[in-house]
Amino acid sequence: MDRTARTRKRYDRWSRYYDAFDLGGVNDQKKLAIDILELSPDSTVLDVGTGTGAILPYLAGKLKGGKVIGIDFSEAMVAKANSRISKAGLSSKAEAIVADCTALSFEPETFDSALATFAFTSFPEPEKAIVEVARVLKFSGKFSILDTGKPLGKPSFRYRCLKAMMWRAGFTDISLDIPKIVKESGFRILKLHRFRGSFAYICLCEKL
Ligand SMILES: C[S@@+](CC[C@H](N)C(=O)[O-])C[C@H]1O[C@@H](n2cnc3c(N)ncnc32)[C@H](O)[C@@H]1O
Repeated sequence: MDRTARTRKRYDRWSRYYDAFDLGGVNDQKKLAIDILELSPDSTVLDVGTGTGAILPYLAGKLKGGKVIGIDFSEAMVAKANSRISKAGLSSKAEAIVADCTALSFEPETFDSALATFAFTSFPEPEKAIVEVARVLKFSGKFSILDTGKPLGKPSFRYRCLKAMMWRAGFTDISLDIPKIVKESGFRILKLHRFRGSFAYICLCEKL
C-alpha cells in the first residue's frame, strides 16, 4: 500500500474519534484563518482536507447566497461532515465531497477563496495539492492556510521529538515550509500570522 492509501485508511479509522480531540474542533486559530479571508457573502469557498467539517458551519455563517465545499479523500470523514451539515440545516450553503486534493474535478477558476486548516502537513503530496488549489481558484483569489511549521530559531529537542513522532503517525512533515511551496506555485504571500507559544501559523496568500 502506498503512502496516500495508508493515509486515507488511517483517517477513515480516526474519523470515529477525531472530534474528541482538540484538532477536530473550532478554535480561535481556525476562526481567524477564516476571518482573515474577508469573505463576501456570495463567495464560493473551498475547504481543502475538511475532515469532519467542524468549521463548515462557522464558514457557512459568513455566507448569504454563497457556498462552501469541503473536500476530503476519506469517505468516513466526509460522511461525518455531511451529517453535521444536515443536522445544522445548512445543506443549501455547505456540502462535503469525497475527492483527492491533488486531482480535483472542478473547472479551473471555480472558487473565490480557499482554506486549509491543519491539512497540508498531512497531505502525502503537498506540492501537488497547492498546484491543484491554484488551478481551481480565481485570479486574485485568497487562500488561507493554517498549519504547523518550523519554530523561529533553533528547534528544541522537544520539537524534534514531536516532528519524528508525527512523521511516524502519518503527518508528512510538521515543519513543512508552506510559504516556500506557495511562492513556487503561483501565489504571493499577503500575511504570515504566527501564534505566540505555538508552532501554528496562518499563511494568507493570493493567486497571481
Ligand atoms: C489533520 S486532518 C484536518 C481536518 C480539518 N481540516 C481540521 O481542521 O480538523 C487532515 C485531513 O486531510 C485529509 N487528507 C489527507 N490527504 C488528503 C488528500 N490527498 N486529499 C484530500 N484530503 C486529504 C485527511 O483525510 C484528513 O481528514
